[in-house]
Amino acid sequence: MRVDFIVNGEKVSWEGDAAQRLMDVLRDDLGLTGVKCGCREGECGACSVLLDGRLVNSCLVAIGRVQGCVVMTIEGYRTSARFALLDRCFAARSAVQCGYCIPGMALAAEALLAVNARPTEAEVREALAGNLCRCTGYNAIVGAVLDAAEAGDWEAGDVSLLGPGSSPGQAHRSHSASAGVGPGSAPEVTEGYTPRSLAEALEMMATEELTPYAGGTDLMVAKEQGRPFLFLHEVEELRHVVEDEQYLRIGAAVTYAELLNDALTPALLQEAVATIAAPGIRNVGTLGGNIANASPKGDGALVCFATDSLLRLASSRGERIMPISEFYRGRGQTALEPDELLVEVLLPKVWLASGDHGFCKVGGRKALAISRVGFAGLFSLEDNRVAHLALAFGAVEDVVIRRPELDALLIGKTVAQARETVAEYLAAWDAALCPVQGRVSAAYRKQVCLNLTADFLDRHLGV
Ligand SMILES: Cc1cc2nc3c(=O)[nH]c(=O)nc-3n(C[C@H](O)[C@H](O)[C@H](O)COP(=O)(O)OP(=O)(O)OC[C@H]3O[C@@H](n4cnc5c(N)ncnc54)[C@H](O)[C@@H]3O)c2cc1C
Ligand code: FES
Ligand code: FES
Repeated sequence: MRVDFIVNGEKVSWEGDAAQRLMDVLRDDLGLTGVKCGCREGECGACSVLLDGRLVNSCLVAIGRVQGCVVMTIEGYRTSARFALLDRCFAARSAVQCGYCIPGMALAAEALLAVNARPTEAEVREALAGNLCRCTGYNAIVGAVLDAAEAGDWEAGDVSLLGPGSSPGQAHRSHSASAGVGPGSAPEVTEGYTPRSLAEALEMMATEELTPYAGGTDLMVAKEQGRPFLFLHEVEELRHVVEDEQYLRIGAAVTYAELLNDALTPALLQEAVATIAAPGIRNVGTLGGNIANASPKGDGALVCFATDSLLRLASSRGERIMPISEFYRGRGQTALEPDELLVEVLLPKVWLASGDHGFCKVGGRKALAISRVGFAGLFSLEDNRVAHLALAFGAVEDVVIRRPELDALLIGKTVAQARETVAEYLAAWDAALCPVQGRVSAAYRKQVCLNLTADFLDRHLGV
């Protein structure tokens, strides 16, 4: 695939495997070794760059996704006015030791300061949450970013501080690189396609076996890619957040960052999305990818189970709508046909608006907290009776767990009757749960599920 993009103000024309990591192209082909490699799995932030102004982990971005984009690495950023100030503040705090993490830290700070001129300490910590430092410790780095914000004389959105190379219009040089495609080398080259409409995307899916690529944050970790990528980020019909009378409708290619910023996103989903990884992942990762990946640990999928969401699937043969519980066929397996795309998620508004909710994720480091157990619940009272109860558990069995028949034990009961039935309800869950044994034991997972359920009911029924 030929990819034309701009790096630090230079026009780059690159040709090769569309699935190659942006990080490798920047370092190996373009010599931009300020882009560091730590983990190649989105966990350390050393490879952070700005893609169209947003922080991304370049190890998880396929180069084909970069077609037409503007990339900024530390080599471009270091000529900017804001970097000069950050640099002074980092030095004053002795916030740099080996320096390996600093390019990523500086670009994560830039991504924050560009939209939030006077961040709080909590906001700085959140913005840097995906960037690991093995030697300085974080307080000095966070302090340096706060110092720069305090000393800086800029308003949010002021891109003049970025200097040359921050937009396509400022491109000033031309550069070509190749991934070794040529006579004699005969590499396996994966093509990539960037459709601009759903009809075009579905037509492509109908004529060739393709791998849909939304944010790439699961695909690029999975590493093995044979089929060409179908890049979905420019398909407008997958990028909406709208509501009708019954449903909140979220396009499959809406990113987590977009959901967090959208006033229509319900509190339960906001809460879940805020726990997902760090900004570099949330800027590209999507709810559609979370669902289609069919992992039992998906936090977005967990919310969709608890809300009994529907999924709209489409192919060139037509459309169908199905409950999310029918979509999953096992770990990593879905009802999607090879030529089908997930188009949108329909969250029923009825219980989201009227009741209360709970979301909890039991895991390790927040920015990497793939759940050991995930919990999402909805609860509603009407006329002192339980009108609605819906619990879902993630990371416990091969598929997210939702058992409406158990919730029915409490639905319709008065608060007093429901309190008396809680022990029976918990016993029913105890019998129903069959957790998988993994890094944590099955017994631990089950106990956590029961504890979270008891807490949730305690909060709502006062048992
Ligand atoms: C460091 C790190 C931390 C993470 N933390 C979390 C976390 O806390 N919680 C969590 O839930 N996840 C987490 N993830 C996993 C991942 O970020 C999410 O699952 C994300 O939502 C995947 O979305 P994506 O757009 O990147 O999917 P992609 O990687 O683009 O795609 C995932 C799968 O879905 C398919 N697909 C995508 N879109 C469509 C479509 N429209 N139609 C059909 N198929 C489609 C792809 O072909 C692929 O099989 C983490 C990942 C990393 C690397
Ligand atoms: S190399 Fe660690 S996040 Fe990319
Ligand atoms: S200064 Fe060494 S990793 Fe951060």
